[in-house]
Amino acid sequence: MSQPDYVVDQMISAKAIAARIEELSDEIEATFAGTGKLIVVGLLRGSFVFIADLVRELELPVEVDFLEASSYGDTMESSREVRILKDLRGEIAGRDVLVVEDIVDTGFTLSHVVRLLESREPRRLETIALLDKPSRREVEIKATWTGFEIPDEFVVGYGIDYAQRNRNLPYIGKVRFTGA
Ligand code: IMP
Ligand code: MG
Repeated sequence: MSQPDYVVDQMISAKAIAARIEELSDEIEATFAGTGKLIVVGLLRGSFVFIADLVRELELPVEVDFLEASSYGDTMESSREVRILKDLRGEIAGRDVLVVEDIVDTGFTLSHVVRLLESREPRRLETIALLDKPSRREVEIKATWTGFEIPDEFVVGYGIDYAQRNRNLPYIGKVRFTGA
């Protein structure tokens, strides 16, 4: 399927993202200080760049695992119905867990994942989202930590895609359609 023409306007620079991750990592270290092991759970695929930068700032014993939940497909609309496409490899019962999400939009994905993982009885479970679009929320949920609150714009870059493209942009930009 061909996509309409669009350009990407930078919204959050790579430098601003890096600076914010440094701040957030200090707060995460303080919260999980003394942990035997923190299991950092990245939600595929959008969080892969964020999790890579985040774990390198964390001075904690860290293990990395991934979970994939169904998302938009190739559209710009949330499906609202969340399915688990790939589950964790490891156990989280009794462990400290940090769930890493790219964007909280309607809130369906993160709330579903948190409910699922809480049912496995981790010792402590916290969440971090790089971006939050609070004006789009349909399910009441807020990540423990948020990188940036943004307005209701469709964004790409830094791991985040539009129909699988633009994940490799080093910054966050908003999609602006051009032409007919
Ligand atoms: P939610 O379930 O509506 O909160 O949607 C969360 C997921 O939708 C995120 O993990 C993203 O994968 C995707 N998403 C939400 N907003 C955007 C966007 O602006 N650009 C690309 N993907 C988005
Ligand atoms: Mg996602």
